[in-house]
Amino acid sequence: MNIARQVRPESSIDYLICPNYCGTVLLDTGESFSCSSCQLNFPVVDGIPVMLKSAATRNRESDDFLKHKRMAYESLEHYNEWYKQRGDFDRALKADQYFIRRLFTHLRLPVHPKILDIGAGSGYYGRIVKSLFDEELFSCDLAIEGLRQGKQAGLKKLFVMDAYALAFQDNFFDAIFAFGLNSFMKDDPTEFIDLLARLTRTLAPGGPFVYVFSTNLRQDSHQFGYSHTPKFVQSVFERSNLFETLELYCFIRPLAHLYGPLLLNPITTAVTQAVQKIVSMKKPGIRLVAIARKK
Ligand SMILES: C[S@@+](CC[C@H](N)C(=O)[O-])C[C@H]1O[C@@H](n2cnc3c(N)ncnc32)[C@H](O)[C@@H]1O
Ligand SMILES: [Zn+2]
Repeated sequence: MNIARQVRPESSIDYLICPNYCGTVLLDTGESFSCSSCQLNFPVVDGIPVMLKSAATRNRESDDFLKHKRMAYESLEHYNEWYKQRGDFDRALKADQYFIRRLFTHLRLPVHPKILDIGAGSGYYGRIVKSLFDEELFSCDLAIEGLRQGKQAGLKKLFVMDAYALAFQDNFFDAIFAFGLNSFMKDDPTEFIDLLARLTRTLAPGGPFVYVFSTNLRQDSHQFGYSHTPKFVQSVFERSNLFETLELYCFIRPLAHLYGPLLLNPITTAVTQAVQKIVSMKKPGIRLVAIARKK
């Protein structure tokens, strides 16, 4: 996956300071100017910046969106373009079906559970889930182009939503799935915990938060932009103090057909060593699966 950092347009303004007596140079996002000191967000209307306090917003959503834009390795535009042009990622459908089956057997969800798929993209995993189980699935993503495809494929309950500012009530879901949610591509544990807390607010007590990410079992970092080693993820989940239990598994996608038993195995030294022997670690395809039950 190419890592497209946001390129600032040449015309962007970098000399405006916050009129709320902060003196802070404002961040020009194209759609608004935002102050990192007081968190006010000044809109741009018809290309004209409105630098009035009375017109500024302080709502969390715009702040979060700006923060996301600043911190993301891959921009929102990147994903919208990606889904428009490419349609989707290269997949190993059989392996992913196997994975979802194993996951559901393991989770023991209540009958007809409400599930949030956050960072659902084109709803690829949601479609697998729907084809195998009877649940109420909510697919949310920042990128509408992905969701359009999910809709064409028959998914219902699709929402453009920011993972930082979910528009669902507390304790609403029986399970939350975050499969490759790239908002988590952060090295800062505090950021990670902040996002975990915001997502978990909508999860029922005892419900599983399932976090799946390409990983690197060798524990070195910044390969293909994914630096989340099992150790890092474990420490972040534990430090968050949000969860009763945490289980870590690895899921070896390219080998799914050949090495069925290795799928969804607890991460142990033996498994790690075996995996390293078998798989070229230069390619993503090893998934880290973290299942954490909310307190
Ligand atoms: C690597 S893709 C994975 C998509 C899908 N889960 C899959 O496995 O096919 C990451 C997705 O996360 C979405 N995303 C990133 N940050 C987000 C945020 N803050 N809120 C909602 N979605 C976000 C992106 O738009 C993108 O569709
Ligand atoms: Zn300010």
